[in-house]
Amino acid sequence: MSKKIFSGVQPTGNLHLGNYLGAIKNFVDLNNDIQNECIFCVVDLHAITIKQDRDQLTNNIRETTATFIASGIDPTKSIIFNQSKVHAHAEGSWILSCLAPMGWLNRMTQFKEKAGKDKEKASVGLYIYPILMASDILLYDATHVPVGEDQKQHLELTRDIAQKFNKDFNCDDFLKVPEPLIKKSFARIMSLKDGLKKMSKSDPSDLSRINLTDTKDEIINKIKKAKTDSFPIPNEEKKLIDRPEAENLLGIYSSISNQTLDKTLNEFGGKNFSDLKRDLAEILSNKISPISNEIKKLINDQGYLDKVLLQGASKAEEIAGKKIEEMKNIIGF
Ligand code: AMP
Ligand code: TRP
Repeated sequence: MSKKIFSGVQPTGNLHLGNYLGAIKNFVDLNNDIQNECIFCVVDLHAITIKQDRDQLTNNIRETTATFIASGIDPTKSIIFNQSKVHAHAEGSWILSCLAPMGWLNRMTQFKEKAGKDKEKASVGLYIYPILMASDILLYDATHVPVGEDQKQHLELTRDIAQKFNKDFNCDDFLKVPEPLIKKSFARIMSLKDGLKKMSKSDPSDLSRINLTDTKDEIINKIKKAKTDSFPIPNEEKKLIDRPEAENLLGIYSSISNQTLDKTLNEFGGKNFSDLKRDLAEILSNKISPISNEIKKLINDQGYLDKVLLQGASKAEEIAGKKIEEMKNIIGF
């Protein structure tokens, strides 16, 4: 069955192995299935929910675009564009925010994490961030949304909002209720320095993550320095309980090699972490450094990246512009 795929990544710099294994690698697989229609969005409106430096934001929009292409998304097959170029996203977000109850938003754990202790100082944009995300998805009648596990709650909210719109305006199937596509295993890649913390763009320690722009030597060094524990590698999954760093490294190895954790445990059970680290560093540098080289090459071709975004925006505009007009008509504007 053909799927309509929509997903987004924020242009906030430092795209890392978690973004790749949790999301972008799946985008590439979906892009490669000729039956699918895919739209991948650089969500720059989401990025400004937190203060951004002007020049850095512009660079990060291009770098995220370059990362999509360098990872294997073909811009002649999938639509790649940046959100701020298509007016309908912000307009749809306003309409949906008039219909989503505050109670639903108050449950969002990502807001609580990002706002930190002083919620009064967080922007209103950060609070309604998930509504803009719902607008992104619903404007394209997306049937499937590939994301990492941390976005699950936002997708549930999107589904609820779609159903409420259809019910409130008595327009049955107008907004399509999308299915999340979240990997069953290795959906959360953890920090290399703390197996209980998510690998994140904003971690102050660069050693906590493999950036998609890291060189071969940087990757090898970071894996060498990754935290482990002092026991040998077990040969059964259940023995990984309470060993988050071991579980993470074995998970990364399995995910990047497209194999089950069981198979990896078979390979490494009884061995030392130095063996796992040696092989992991090798496979990661073989897979990531070509992407990293390609990103660096593409970044120097701003004209090409800007053209991809412009052409993508024009195609996206055609779809979203039509949907928002229908939406406005339903409302009575
Ligand atoms: P963001 O950079 O927050 O826009 O995230 C882009 C995509 O990467 C989203 O689908 C996230 O769910 C996914 N992602 C971010 N961090 C991780 C991680 N540590 N493990 C797995 N997926 C992640
Ligand atoms: N909120 C997502 C994240 O932080 C990014 C995003 C914005 C998104 N709009 C989207 C993901 C629409 C999927 C679909 O990772």
